[in-house]
Amino acid sequence: MINCELQGFVTSLRTVDLQIVAPLLVFATSLAICFHELYTWYRARRLPPGVSGLRCIFEIPSEKVWLKMLRFNQQYGNIASGSFFGYNIIVIGSAKIAEDLLEKRSTNYSDRPRSVMCGELSGWGKIMLLSNYNDWFRAHRKWFAQDIGSYASVAKLHRMIEFEARRYLQCVLEDSERNQAHIRKYFTSIILRLSHGYVTQAGDDPLVDLAHVANSQLSMATAPGLYYVDFVPLMKYIPSWLPGAGFKRKAKKYAVVLRDLVEIPHNYVKSQLAAGTALPSLSSRIMSRPDLTEELEDSVKWATASMYQGGADTANSVSYAFYLAMTLSPRVMRKAQQELDSVVGASRLPTFADRPSLPYMEALFTELLRWYTPGPTTIRCTRVDDEYNGYLIPAGSYVFVNIWGILRDERTYSDPLEFKPERFLGDKPEPHPGNACFGFGRRKCPGYFLGHSSAWLMCAQSLAVFDITKCVENGVEITPEHNIVGETIVHLAPFQCSIKPRSAEAERLIRQEFPHTTDGRTE
Ligand code: HEM
Ligand SMILES: *[C@@H]1O[C@H](CO)[C@@H](O)[C@H](O)[C@H]1NC(C)=O
Repeated sequence: MINCELQGFVTSLRTVDLQIVAPLLVFATSLAICFHELYTWYRARRLPPGVSGLRCIFEIPSEKVWLKMLRFNQQYGNIASGSFFGYNIIVIGSAKIAEDLLEKRSTNYSDRPRSVMCGELSGWGKIMLLSNYNDWFRAHRKWFAQDIGSYASVAKLHRMIEFEARRYLQCVLEDSERNQAHIRKYFTSIILRLSHGYVTQAGDDPLVDLAHVANSQLSMATAPGLYYVDFVPLMKYIPSWLPGAGFKRKAKKYAVVLRDLVEIPHNYVKSQLAAGTALPSLSSRIMSRPDLTEELEDSVKWATASMYQGGADTANSVSYAFYLAMTLSPRVMRKAQQELDSVVGASRLPTFADRPSLPYMEALFTELLRWYTPGPTTIRCTRVDDEYNGYLIPAGSYVFVNIWGILRDERTYSDPLEFKPERFLGDKPEPHPGNACFGFGRRKCPGYFLGHSSAWLMCAQSLAVFDITKCVENGVEITPEHNIVGETIVHLAPFQCSIKPRSAEAERLIRQEFPHTTDGRTE
C-alpha cells in the first residue's frame, strides 16, 4: 500500500520533472554550445591567419606535405594556422620564427604530438624521434651527447670514419651502379660501430638492409595527414579484419620489423659481452655497468636503436643527392676538384685534417645541405597556451616547421633552385642552412656533428678520385631527374650517372690498404 503510494508519487514527480527539466536541459545545452562556439570563435580569431573548420580538412595533403605548406605560408604569412575539431595546426615558414619558438621557448615546444599509427600501433613510441620531452628522452640525449655531441668527440672517430670511407670508395670502384646501396652501407656501418660495436660484413649486410626497411616504414607511418587514426585515435579499436582497417594490418607488419631493429643488434651485444669480444660502443658501455637493471637495459636498448635508426638513413640521403648535384653541375665539380688537387695533391686522399684548407669544398657541402633536405619538415606539440606577435598558440597545437621551404625561400636565397656554392663565399654570404637543416632547440638533430663530418668526408674523397657525369646512351646525354620519395625522411629516387676514377693514380689510392687497425676499435 505504502509502496504503491510511493510509486505514484515518484511517477508524478518524474512527469513534473520532465516538464520542467527537459526545457531547462535544452536551454542549458544550447547555452553551453553557444558559449563554446563563441569561445572557439574568439580563440580562432586570435590564432595566426589561416583556415578553420571543414575547409581545413581538405587542405591536409596526404603526401609531400612541404609543398602544400609552402603555398600555405605564401598565402597566409610565415606563421599560419589551420584548426578543426579541436586540433590546431601551426605552420612556420621562417627560420626566425622557428628559432623564436622552438629554441627560445624550448621548454614548451619540445614535445612531439601523439602518434597513434607509428608510436602506438606500430610500436615505435619509445624511439627518440617520437618520445616526448621527458626523463627517458633526456637520458638518451645525454648518452648521445657524450659520444657524438661535439666536434671534439667526433674527432676521436675520424680514423674509423676514414676506414669506412676507404671501404666505400672500393665498393664504388667495383660496382658503381649500386652506389646508393654503398652509400647507405657507409653510414650504417659507422653508426653500428658506435651504437653496438658491430662491424658490417663485406658485400650486403643484413643489418644495413634492416635499417633501411625499418626507416622507410617509419617515414610512411609518421607522414602527417596520411593516416586518419592519428586524428581520430578511437579508430585504433577497429577490428583488423574490417575493410577500412588496412592501417592496422600494416602497423602489425611494421611492428615485426621494428622488433628486429631493436632486438637483433641488442642480442648481438649481449652475446659479444658474454664471449668477452665486445667492441667499445654505447651499448656495451652501459650494458657492462655493475648497476645494470632491467629498466636500464630496456633504456639503452631503445637509445642504441634510436642511434641506429637515426644515423642510418639521413646522411646517406644527403650524400646520394651529392651525386645528383655533381651530375647536374659540372662547373661546380671541376672547381672543387681543382681546389682538392692544389691543396691535397694527387698522391693521397683528403682527410679531416684538410677540411679547414678547403673553403670551396666547404661551401659546396653547405650548399648541398641547403639544396637537398632529408627531413623536409619537423613537428612539435606545445605544452601550454602561448602568444607570439599577438597571436594565440593554444596548448596542444601541432607546430610544423617547413624546413624545406625555409631553405628554398627566395627572400633568403637567390635563385634557390640553383646549386651554387658561391652563395656562401665572399663578403656577404647567405645564411648557413645548418640551423634549419638539422632542426631546432632541444630536439635539434643529435647526429649533427657526426653527420656533418662523415658526409663531408665521403663527398670530399669521392670528388678527389671520381669524375661524376651524365651517362651517355647512343650519343645522347641523359639528364637525371630530381624525384623525391618518402615523407618524414625522404630520398632521391634512383637515378643514372657515370662514376669513373679520374686517373690511374686515383684508382691506386682507392685500392690502397687502409694503414690502421681495421677491427673497428675507435681508439
Ligand atoms: C646530414 C645528416 C642529417 C640530417 C640533415 C639530419 C636532420 C635531422 C632533423 C631535421 C631532425 C629533426 C630535428 C627537430 O625535430 O628539430 C633530426 C632528428 C634526429 N636525428 Fe638527424 N640528421 C642527420 C644525421 C643524423 C645522424 C648521423 C644521426 C645519428 C645519431 C641522427 C639521429 C637523429 C635522431 C635520433 C633524431 C631525433 C631527435 C629528437 O627527436 O630529439 N641524425 N635529424
Ligand atoms: C613555458 O610555459 C610556462 C607556463 O605558461 C611559462 O611560465 C614559461 O615561461 C614558459 N617557458 C618558456 C621558455 O617560454
